[in-house]
Amino acid sequence: MIKVAVVNQKGGVGKTTTVVNLSTAIALEDLRVLVVDGDAQANASSGFGINRRNAKNLYHLLIGKATIEDVLIKVENAKLDLLPSSPDLIGVDTELRGKPNWELTLKNILESISQNYDYIFIDAPPSLGTLTILILSSAEYVLIPVQAEYYALEGVAQLLETVHYVRRTINPKLKLLGFLITMYDKRTKLSEQVEEEIRRIFKEMVFQTIIPRSIRLAEAPSYGIPGVIFDPLSVGAIAYKNLAKEIINRFARREVRV
Ligand SMILES: Nc1ncnc2c1ncn2[C@@H]1O[C@H](COP(=O)(O)OP(=O)(O)OP(=O)(O)O)[C@@H](O)[C@H]1O
Ligand SMILES: [Mg+2]
Repeated sequence: MIKVAVVNQKGGVGKTTTVVNLSTAIALEDLRVLVVDGDAQANASSGFGINRRNAKNLYHLLIGKATIEDVLIKVENAKLDLLPSSPDLIGVDTELRGKPNWELTLKNILESISQNYDYIFIDAPPSLGTLTILILSSAEYVLIPVQAEYYALEGVAQLLETVHYVRRTINPKLKLLGFLITMYDKRTKLSEQVEEEIRRIFKEMVFQTIIPRSIRLAEAPSYGIPGVIFDPLSVGAIAYKNLAKEIINRFARREVRV
């Protein structure tokens, strides 16, 4: 089982779009996938058409007021399982922080069900707070989406510091899976320049696959259907399916660096 946290404290870089579409694309390859919505905005949940306001969700699971069976949802159209979130999740900060071993709460929950899955993807909020620490503590790999825009790498140094901190203190197994360039606009010189810069700095840690700007990917969440199912032939859907193949192949060839 491979646990991937999709993290970047910068907002709106494509974390949730990546979690929803990459996980669905991997499930379409007949692998068993769990998605964990680790953001109080609950965008990953709504991307699958799931709304758990006023119902048991990841918040209740984390504070010990629900069981996995109460919370886990089978997302039929995407053929995967989801631990959904809701705005309740904001409360995790005050409920958990400071309790002994609070950092391991999510890790322990995921370990109890990890044998049921080939891949687990965890969506993170746009901050480096309590939830992101819980998420990094429970993951094995970090995938960092970066938007092909000015200031793409703003904050990445701080993010990598946080990854190193968690590796040193809580989760020595944590590794970088790679940087994913998102919202690439091939009509602009800027996208090309940003790609060049990111590849120059992070070299083979940047996925070959690039996610282009795709209106269909942006429209799909309003229907509660992942883009790769909503319009499988759109450029965005094809890119996420290619990314799924790239990741599956890398693990098959054990090319992932420690
Ligand atoms: N490849 C793409 N093409 C077009 N629009 C995209 C693409 N990827 C994401 N978007 C849109 O950009 C916005 C931000 O994307 P998304 O929600 O995935 O980012 P995020 O990093 O999860 O944001 P947050 O930090 O708020 O959680 C959304 O409206 C989404 O639909
Ligand atoms: Mg998001």
